[in-house]
Amino acid sequence: MRTAGNIRSVFWVSSILCSLCVSLQFDPQDNYLIDCGSRSNVSVGGRVFVADDFYSSFLETPKILVNTSSISTLTTFDSALYKTARIFNETSDYTFPIRKPGRHWIRLYFYPFINNNHNLSMAKFSVSAQSFTLLKEFQVETGNLMKEYSLNISSDSLVLTFTPSSNSFAFINALEVVSQPDNLVPLEARTVGSQGSFRNLQKQALETVKRVNMGNVTVYPQNDTLWRFWDSDDSYLIHKFAKFVSNENAVNFTSGFSEDYIAPSSVYGTATTLDSADPLINANVTWHFDVIPGFEYLVRFHFCDIVSNSSSNHLSNVYINSWLVSRNFDVSNLTSNNFGVPYFMDAVVKVSDSSKLKVSVGPYSLEEIYPVVFLNGLEIMKISDSTGRLNVFESSKSSSKVKIIVIVGSSVGLFVAVVLAIVIFLFCRRRKLALVGHSKTEDVAVNGMEGKFANRTGLSGTKTGYYFPLSLIQEATDNFSENLVIGVGGFGKVYEGVLRENIKVAVKRGASESNQGLKEFWTEIEMLPQFRHRHLVSLIGYCDEQNEMIIIYEYMENGTLKRHLYGSDLPSLSWRKRLEICIGSAKGLHYLHTGSAKAIIHRDVKSANILLDENFMAKVADFGLSKTGPEIDKTHVSTAVKGSFGYLDPEYLTRQQLTEKSDVYSFGVVMFEVLCGRPVIDPSLPREKVNLVDWAMKLQKRGKLEEIVDPSIADQIKPDSLRKYGEIAEKCLAENGVLRPSMGDVLWNLECVLQLQGADERTNQNGELPSQVSHLETGESTVEFSMTSMEDLAGVSMSKVFAQMVKEEIM
Ligand SMILES: *[C@@H]1O[C@H](CO)[C@@H](O)[C@H](O)[C@H]1NC(C)=O
Ligand SMILES: *[C@@H]1O[C@H](CO)[C@@H](O)[C@H](O)[C@H]1NC(C)=O
Ligand SMILES: *[C@@H]1O[C@H](CO)[C@@H](O)[C@H](O)[C@H]1NC(C)=O
Ligand SMILES: *[C@@H]1O[C@H](CO)[C@@H](O)[C@H](O)[C@H]1NC(C)=O
Ligand SMILES: *[C@@H]1O[C@H](CO)[C@@H](O)[C@H](O)[C@H]1NC(C)=O
Ligand SMILES: *[C@@H]1O[C@H](CO)[C@@H](O)[C@H](O)[C@H]1NC(C)=O
Ligand SMILES: *[C@@H]1O[C@H](CO)[C@@H](O)[C@H](O)[C@H]1NC(C)=O
Ligand SMILES: *[C@@H]1O[C@H](CO)[C@@H](O)[C@H](O)[C@H]1NC(C)=O
Ligand SMILES: *[C@@H]1O[C@H](CO)[C@@H](O)[C@H](O)[C@H]1NC(C)=O
Ligand SMILES: *[C@@H]1O[C@H](CO)[C@@H](O)[C@H](O)[C@H]1NC(C)=O
Ligand SMILES: *[C@@H]1O[C@H](CO)[C@@H](O)[C@H](O)[C@H]1NC(C)=O
Repeated sequence: MRTAGNIRSVFWVSSILCSLCVSLQFDPQDNYLIDCGSRSNVSVGGRVFVADDFYSSFLETPKILVNTSSISTLTTFDSALYKTARIFNETSDYTFPIRKPGRHWIRLYFYPFINNNHNLSMAKFSVSAQSFTLLKEFQVETGNLMKEYSLNISSDSLVLTFTPSSNSFAFINALEVVSQPDNLVPLEARTVGSQGSFRNLQKQALETVKRVNMGNVTVYPQNDTLWRFWDSDDSYLIHKFAKFVSNENAVNFTSGFSEDYIAPSSVYGTATTLDSADPLINANVTWHFDVIPGFEYLVRFHFCDIVSNSSSNHLSNVYINSWLVSRNFDVSNLTSNNFGVPYFMDAVVKVSDSSKLKVSVGPYSLEEIYPVVFLNGLEIMKISDSTGRLNVFESSKSSSKVKIIVIVGSSVGLFVAVVLAIVIFLFCRRRKLALVGHSKTEDVAVNGMEGKFANRTGLSGTKTGYYFPLSLIQEATDNFSENLVIGVGGFGKVYEGVLRENIKVAVKRGASESNQGLKEFWTEIEMLPQFRHRHLVSLIGYCDEQNEMIIIYEYMENGTLKRHLYGSDLPSLSWRKRLEICIGSAKGLHYLHTGSAKAIIHRDVKSANILLDENFMAKVADFGLSKTGPEIDKTHVSTAVKGSFGYLDPEYLTRQQLTEKSDVYSFGVVMFEVLCGRPVIDPSLPREKVNLVDWAMKLQKRGKLEEIVDPSIADQIKPDSLRKYGEIAEKCLAENGVLRPSMGDVLWNLECVLQLQGADERTNQNGELPSQVSHLETGESTVEFSMTSMEDLAGVSMSKVFAQMVKEEIM
């Protein structure tokens, strides 16, 4: 076993000595900032991006400048850069004179806007610099993005080449070529994992995969000495016992080389720590990052003890994936017991067969009590491979798929139409609503609308990071061994699998004989990578080799919530656990609705789509039907009805207008399922009780909800918490979507229920109830609720029936 001292000497590390760095801005020798396509200079984050013309001598190409004709909906700190763009319809070179050789940043800004003449999301192109391929067959479909590279340039010019793919064009919204301080990127670093060798970095190109500030604080370029963007770590963090701390005043950049701008005090001044309030907690703090397998990554850890100023040793272990980067790592020792002195270390890791890079810090020994474990910042940089590439592109996925949809769509069409007729017939008979007449005419309009929101274009470069070869999946699942089946659904079977790195995964394999669900398959692969949230199931990979439709998710030890509520002999979940599960899934949905610029509507919220990990933490799964929500100026998305019977929003059923409130409705159904521990539709019961929602709402209105509480938890529920819970569920199930609370309100109120329950339970040290218990603020529900029973169709997932119906999905 090596000692800490030995290992320390191996690292390419140094503590940072730099007096009051923050006020000293670095003065880059080469500093080209261009707001491409713009006729005026634009100031962003304290720097001026000059008008396109200013450096036009660097470029010889027919000039096409475009700008957004409508107001961009972007609200990022750098949104001013995305209003204009330059288009290249043939291969074009920018040639930047380089005054000082050495590493330079190249930052490329992309935002695929649409104006009268151009649709930038149709652009497909490659970008190269010197001998490196930065982007290959690159497409940006939605959203803005900035790509950052670091190249060591030894000649007196940098040539940046944009090459449109055939019959396409290239574009760029803004561009930076900026000198980096020397010493920022090391010449070599230790390799973690298989070999213990050092590697030569001086000639390699690097691509910044992530630059993260721990402590849940985003650091914007204006607050960084080198105008770097540091993403907040919250969305990468696996939230188990993690705590955010901040103490920027403690950061002590001591005297010395001020040319060293490793990271600003705003990064070192915040940290994510192991929440060791409980001395028995002994766990890792872990972050997950998406990476493309097959590349090596340079990972830089930033540490600064702002957490405790005791001089005792704080030994911790640092891991990447399951490899030990440093054992008995002790920042206070390395910084000579000086509180608040920054420190960093680098490691190179090769990621071969996983699209995840996991970084963990944890106590060095299981016996340690009150362990002090923290991380302040992290940078992950992809290293160019031997051919100078930074990107792999597996092309032609979606175009061939689309053809299959056409064929399947038309042959299945007839069958589906028949089934649909039956469904509509049954449905209308029950609802006694004239639905068929107007739904037919509306369909046409609906389809036209939907095209605008549909997101089914080809895979962009980032998603290829999730691609898994079939052989690896076969290996992981013992060639789809029946013994490893952990679930069977409409889509196919779900297998338990173990990847080579010993990571347990759930492998969902689409039934190959039916091509239903193909659209859902691609939707899920498109949607999932956009979300990183502890209450949303993470995508690990997918595979479509040999017409397979395989999606690999993180493994959820305890399966579906449904399984724990009824129909199995698993032990009954306590009321508290159930509340925590509701809160967890509400958080996941709240995040979906509000976490990005445009709301995502899940559309298939049900207990079978809420999964539980080994600690019974809830995660929302199955994004196959999810959909981007309405544009800012619209109130809803018009769309064909999909979802699962029993959970469907009645308003959505009748009007096909989808809003986040449809998820709220389904969530209300889940809440009653959780409370009563019975299926939503149970045809074996007397007629009035068949439909859980009808029955529970009836009792709720009479104030007799306790009659249907799951007997196994009846004695645990405090009357106050039941009353409040019933109220929330009732509001969620309001027939009129406008009267339903938002997921955020639901979440807040559920937390109150938990408090009510908790206060009562722990009771009575002082007998006080939490003061902040309020009622829902969404107005009184005056609409009489009457969701019709649909016992005949119990268990039928409507998506199966409607999957191929919508015309634009076939095109
Ligand atoms: C946008 O383009 C129009 C015409 O193409 C031009 O008149 C206008 O000045 C441009 N706006 C900016 C900000 O460049
Ligand atoms: C833009 O900034 C550059 C450099 O700071 C300056 O020389 C130029 O005059 C500015 N152009 C405009 C249109 O303001
Ligand atoms: C590119 O656009 C310019 C100006 O619109 C035009 O003159 C040129 O022929 C185009 N080149 C190609 C390859 O289409
Ligand atoms: C722009 O191009 C994208 C990708 O080809 C396409 O999905 C979208 O419908 C286009 N938008 C318009 C308004 O043409
Ligand atoms: C850049 O490359 C040169 C040799 O081409 C080397 O001397 C120098 O150390 C390199 N700089 C960095 C920061 O890697
Ligand atoms: C992290 O910060 C964001 C916004 O500042 C906040 O919404 C979120 O709740 C924070 N996360 C945690 C776990 O506190
Ligand atoms: C970032 O800089 C702005 C002004 O440039 C300042 O007001 C703000 O407090 C800084 N934020 C942090 C986190 O240092
Ligand atoms: C900062 O650290 C240095 C040693 O690296 C120490 O001498 C100095 O007292 C520290 N300053 C503060 C304010 O703690
Ligand atoms: C932390 O993670 C490493 C690597 O995955 C693992 O070996 C170790 O047991 C974990 N420690 C704790 C306390 O969970
Ligand atoms: C550091 O220690 C001093 C006394 O030793 C104490 O007053 C101070 O609150 C401590 N600061 C922190 C951040 O723990
Ligand atoms: C750091 O640890 C080494 C070996 O464990 C020890 O000899 C040295 O005194 C320690 N330094 C400080 C400043 O605690």
